[in-house]
Amino acid sequence: MTRRQVVALGGSLLRPEESEQRTAWFGQIRQLAVHIEGNGRHLGIVVGGGLPAREGIELAKTMVSDSHRLDEVGIAATRLNATIIQQILLDIGIDVAPVIPSTTEQAAALLEQHHLVIMGGTTPGHTTDAVAVAFARDAGAGHCIIATNVSHVFDKDPREHEDAESFSSMSYDQLAAITGLEALAPGASAVIDPIAVGWAKKAAITLAVLDGRNMLLLEQALDGKPFEGTLIQ
Ligand code: UTP
Repeated sequence: MTRRQVVALGGSLLRPEESEQRTAWFGQIRQLAVHIEGNGRHLGIVVGGGLPAREGIELAKTMVSDSHRLDEVGIAATRLNATIIQQILLDIGIDVAPVIPSTTEQAAALLEQHHLVIMGGTTPGHTTDAVAVAFARDAGAGHCIIATNVSHVFDKDPREHEDAESFSSMSYDQLAAITGLEALAPGASAVIDPIAVGWAKKAAITLAVLDGRNMLLLEQALDGKPFEGTLIQ
């Protein structure tokens, strides 16, 4: 098992409906960080923009139509969420990089020096899923976990189609056939960003998509154990 690992944490995970669940999830993130540091491992966490990204982009859209400008608003929201996780971990003395890196090269260098590095988005044109793949590539991690709010990749949206079928494993090309190849519009959501799929294929980074609301699943995947979710390679 490599000592350097990268996970993309979907922004929606920071704000479950119930405030009690929110506190529990933040507590579990702290426990995970203690576990990683205690085992001498290094973990990069790329945090999504979730609600503040959607709100900010909608607000800016009333005056701005340029998609790169709207992406910049989304990036600011991802960095806000990254700062929240960073400060929650620094508060209990975890060895977290004191800056939020703005490139994946900087993040990979910081991961050599710290047990945890937390970051958000980087440049317009993709989401934090793609940032996580680039971070994994630059850190020599070999695989990248996408922790989101669905259990698997499905052949169609399970919220709209009762007969949607989940995959436990699939190829990059099978996934690309579902996501398409085009970049997402600012603030648009999808199970995984098509740009991330293309970058993962190019760099041969194995992807693991799992439900990040259940921290046990994330821990199992990070520990190299079989986990419930979708493996893409
Ligand atoms: P997210 O990574 O949060 O998108 O970026 P998401 O797929 O909706 O993820 P969740 O739901 O939070 O997990 C939010 C927006 O920020 C911009 C894009 O506009 C994106 O839609 N963004 C983010 C960038 O342009 N570049 C980045 O590197 C990251």
